[in-house]
Amino acid sequence: MGNSKWECIWENRIGDPILIDDKTLLQMANDVRANAYCPYSKFPVGAALLCSDGTVFTGVNVENASYGLTMCAERVAIFKAVSEGHHDFVKLAVTCEGDHCQPCGACRQVIHEHAPDIEILMGNPQGTFVRTTIRDLLPEAFSL
Ligand code: THU
Repeated sequence: MGNSKWECIWENRIGDPILIDDKTLLQMANDVRANAYCPYSKFPVGAALLCSDGTVFTGVNVENASYGLTMCAERVAIFKAVSEGHHDFVKLAVTCEGDHCQPCGACRQVIHEHAPDIEILMGNPQGTFVRTTIRDLLPEAFSL
């Protein structure tokens, strides 16, 4: 636990600085779980993606009656960021119930595509987390 060396000062809506440290990013990931659309699994997942300019994009899992169309929280956060023109990602926090939230294989491939050097914080609602990297989660990744 504890913060890694990369930290970011961000401004809130009234211009006060906010430090986006690991705890804050995990809290954002956990808070956004309230927006998860998961009527089938009833398993809300939240993600918060920190960009190098300090912007944070959150994401939740969005399920579908045709189960295979479900989109995971991590990919929602990444796709939101990319579609807003962001490409430099520093850290991704993910939380769900359980010990700590491990991104699925599909998400690992997508995370690697956009951020092969990113750090990942795998957390839970209690606030504890495991720190890792996409390189450790997806060794020998496929890329072109
Ligand atoms: N889920 C995620 O959002 N991220 C993951 O990395 C693993 C799984 C979601 C998909 C589905 O809505 C629910 O968790 C149960 O699998």
